Amino acid sequence: MAKLLIIDDEELIRRRLEKLLQLDDYETFCAEDGPKGLALFQQVNPDMALVDIKMPGMDGIEVLKKIKELSKSTEVIMMTGHGGTETVIDALRAGAFDYIAKPIEYDELEISIKRALEKQGMMKKLEEYTVSLEKELTERKKVEERLAASLAAREILLQEVHHRVKNNLQIIAGLLNMESRHITDEAAKKAFENTRSRIDAIAFVHNKLHTSTDLAHVNMADYVKSLAAQLQTSYGKEERKVTLKLEVSEEVEFNLEISVPLGLLFNEIITNAIKHAFPDNREGEIKISLIPDGSGNLVFTVKDNGVGIPPEKVKSGSTGTKLINMLARQLGGTLIVENDSGTRTQITFKDPKMRVNPVAPVAAIPTNMIK
Ligand SMILES: Nc1ncnc2c1ncn2[C@@H]1O[C@H](COP(=O)(O)OP(=O)(O)OP(=O)(O)O)[C@@H](O)[C@H]1O
Ligand SMILES: [Mg+2]
Repeated sequence: MAKLLIIDDEELIRRRLEKLLQLDDYETFCAEDGPKGLALFQQVNPDMALVDIKMPGMDGIEVLKKIKELSKSTEVIMMTGHGGTETVIDALRAGAFDYIAKPIEYDELEISIKRALEKQGMMKKLEEYTVSLEKELTERKKVEERLAASLAAREILLQEVHHRVKNNLQIIAGLLNMESRHITDEAAKKAFENTRSRIDAIAFVHNKLHTSTDLAHVNMADYVKSLAAQLQTSYGKEERKVTLKLEVSEEVEFNLEISVPLGLLFNEIITNAIKHAFPDNREGEIKISLIPDGSGNLVFTVKDNGVGIPPEKVKSGSTGTKLINMLARQLGGTLIVENDSGTRTQITFKDPKMRVNPVAPVAAIPTNMIK
């Protein structure tokens, strides 16, 4: 039941309105002047007020302004005598919902009251909606903040994992190095050294992953450049003696699954060129390239201008050759090793990004491959 406050100095009008409104199921409260009306307003907190404009003492406009100060959402309908157009405009400006001219037509008043109450109901709903929307937004923001924080934490963790894997692999490589110093058997010593170099190549992948922007993809240009430079130094073929020329497409990036076998493959081929192509301090050049061929393949080529690979070694070398063949097969690639004023080794494989089925990961090197 809506509560209505009537403020009018004429008793007859108050009584008549009260009677008619009560018949229409409104709860009514009456006051004969502004101050009493305002006191009653604060006491009963009505849904709306009917206020006479012309009253002795505090006039209706003042009462209206005070009501609006007390409660913005309470609608006020003004009751006016004849010819008070200016006061009516003042009242509307001061926030009155409507005005009804005296003598009051009850039907007209009733429509106005209903409209005012409807507006009030709608405003209330709008307010509730806005509040719930604001609440939802705050909630969503909190969730977003939480997600961002957990994502950042995961990234740090992942970075830490790659860092540790790299460190642990380097520790293993270091241990092999230490052990190999006490080995007198040349073949065993060589096996230790080769294994260390292969572990280094894998550690390198993790090193590149932990510094990569998304922590999931290795930039191959970066990888090949660093790997080649490291191998050049570790085999004592500084730039003066053996120059490296690299042409690696910047956008070639792979995940861990592909990067490890590829890294090992690159390691074997580049190592062979550095190690075998320029014996007795010969000078020369090694060109390394990894570029797309335009039809969904990537072509990795290592070409040196050294002594050339003995023909009998092309098919049956040692662990290196076997590894190269096995990894090339696993990547679904085709391998060419040929003499061409030096040695040219080339592997063409499908760009993994274009594959329907990802390449099977190299889980382990078969034990029969380890010398
Ligand atoms: N670029 C090259 N230039 C000249 N000779 C090469 C080249 N690549 C390979 N060879 C020859 O082929 C042989 C077989 O290579 P392979 O990689 O199988 O064995 P490796 O390098 O001697 O030992 P590892 O098993 O440690 O790799 C080498 O010993 C070398 O004689
Ligand atoms: Mg080799």
